[in-house]
Amino acid sequence: MDGQDDATGLEGLRAQWFARIAEAADESALEQVRVGALGKKGEVSLKMRELGKMTPEQRQTAGPALNALKDELNSALLARRASLADAALAERLRAEWLDVTLSARPQRRGTIHPVSQVTEEVAAIFADMGFGVAEGPQVETAWYNFDALNIPGHHPARAEMDTFYMARADGDDRDPHVLRTHTSPVQIRTMQAEGPPLRIIAPGRVYRSDYDQTHTPMFHQVEGLAIDRDISMANLKWVLEEFFAAFFEVDGVETRFRASHFPFTEPSAEVDIRCSWVDGQLKVGEGDGWLEVLGSGMVHPKVLEYGGIDPSQWQGFAFGMGIDRIAMLKYGIPDLRAFFDSDLRWLRHYGFAALDVPTMRGGLSA
Ligand code: PHE
Repeated sequence: MDGQDDATGLEGLRAQWFARIAEAADESALEQVRVGALGKKGEVSLKMRELGKMTPEQRQTAGPALNALKDELNSALLARRASLADAALAERLRAEWLDVTLSARPQRRGTIHPVSQVTEEVAAIFADMGFGVAEGPQVETAWYNFDALNIPGHHPARAEMDTFYMARADGDDRDPHVLRTHTSPVQIRTMQAEGPPLRIIAPGRVYRSDYDQTHTPMFHQVEGLAIDRDISMANLKWVLEEFFAAFFEVDGVETRFRASHFPFTEPSAEVDIRCSWVDGQLKVGEGDGWLEVLGSGMVHPKVLEYGGIDPSQWQGFAFGMGIDRIAMLKYGIPDLRAFFDSDLRWLRHYGFAALDVPTMRGGLSA
């Protein structure tokens, strides 16, 4: 047997093609191997053709041997093809792996705090009426926080404000530092820095030593100030009604002015907005109720003077409003203290999407 196989060279042929089949790295390489061996001009096929030139005895042993080789190669090719296909599929499954538990929408991670949202809304509305945004320091001098606002040292308003006093680094206790108790000192700073005419709002943090369901030691106010030659309370009323309609996203909001007193305005008024409660839900702009929302008045002549403005030439209105309070009203948030607890569940519930920036054209609270 061996002698005959060696004579026809089949054993070498067999080893060579088996090796090539095993080496074929993918299905197209394997197909080339198949054509090389068993194709029309394949090496094995050519050998089969040589059978015709052989003697009948030679053909009797070479014929079956060649046929057997052909069958063996065919089944080896088939087996190799199957295992290459399996490997290719496994590789595809590995590469095209998909996490079906992934959310279809990108997850909202951080959110905008209601105070930031409402501050942006307020700024957008007043910007539309020509008001710029002014700022001042939170650590303020008593002069800006009180004296320049016509609140002298003995005035009861100083005691009422529950002020946090601070030691001054330079030891000068004639004008101590305080955590500002309201945003009104920004009125003075802006008058000094810019001069008349003026139209600004000043949102920011303020501090008073007080803590219960509606008071926190730090909270937020927004100051409004408009100074020109002939600004009056009528302008104040229009601006406020325009603001509240835009802010509460309703057609109109009636306001009620109640006589009041602030040392830095004369006359002074507390302003209520018309509202009602339906099923425990606040409706702004309609109904029989009134809700106090801010303090306001005409800037006191002495305050204009402290700000370096001549009160015989200029006059204007000012108002101060609680940002946290109007945020609670608009978004139905019951407890002020929760604003500053940093409870992630609260923040996710009341927070706003970071990219929904409030604008007058695009919508305030979308
Ligand atoms: N500063 C006052 C307060 O904190 C509010 C106010 C501002 C009143 C401007 C009148 C004018 O209560």
